[in-house]
Amino acid sequence: MLRTKDILDEKNKLLRQTSKEVVFPLSKEDKKNIHDMLEYLTNSQIEELAEKYDLRPGTGMAAVQIGALKRYITVVVETDEGKFDKYVIINPKIISNSVEKIYIEAGEGCLSVNRETCGIVPRYARVTVEGFDMDGNKIRIRAREELAIIFQHEIDHLNGILFTDYIDPKDPYKDQDLYRAI
Ligand code: NI
Repeated sequence: MLRTKDILDEKNKLLRQTSKEVVFPLSKEDKKNIHDMLEYLTNSQIEELAEKYDLRPGTGMAAVQIGALKRYITVVVETDEGKFDKYVIINPKIISNSVEKIYIEAGEGCLSVNRETCGIVPRYARVTVEGFDMDGNKIRIRAREELAIIFQHEIDHLNGILFTDYIDPKDPYKDQDLYRAI
């Protein structure tokens, strides 16, 4: 089971590398990583488990964050009914995006960034992501609002990009009026 300490911190240079395309079939190690990542994200959003295992809450994780330089991401978001929608995308690519951009008003966060941050991270309001499921079947997901932001954030990880890269420390709220807050 993954714990918070297993997740690489932003100071780790691995997070700045470009992850490699995955070749199917998935290795045992990749399958285990995906299982562990989904388990962490789910448990971290269940208050009593998060407390019990001291998990920092998160909705998305890229393989590189646990040290695997492979192109896959996992996302777990709680639905209005209190269930969890889980996504695994192997070799994900954004194939189309809206012109409109949005940002999370409360600020974006990342399991690898363990400090207070502030500022605007402009993201496409809507994206279509293509990739593969764990069996190698092609998948296509249309996402909007928060889910779209999470996909963009996680795919950035595969290219060595952190959300803090978008923020100008001298002017963290630059061009705020150009984007819609969510
Ligand atoms: Ni992150």
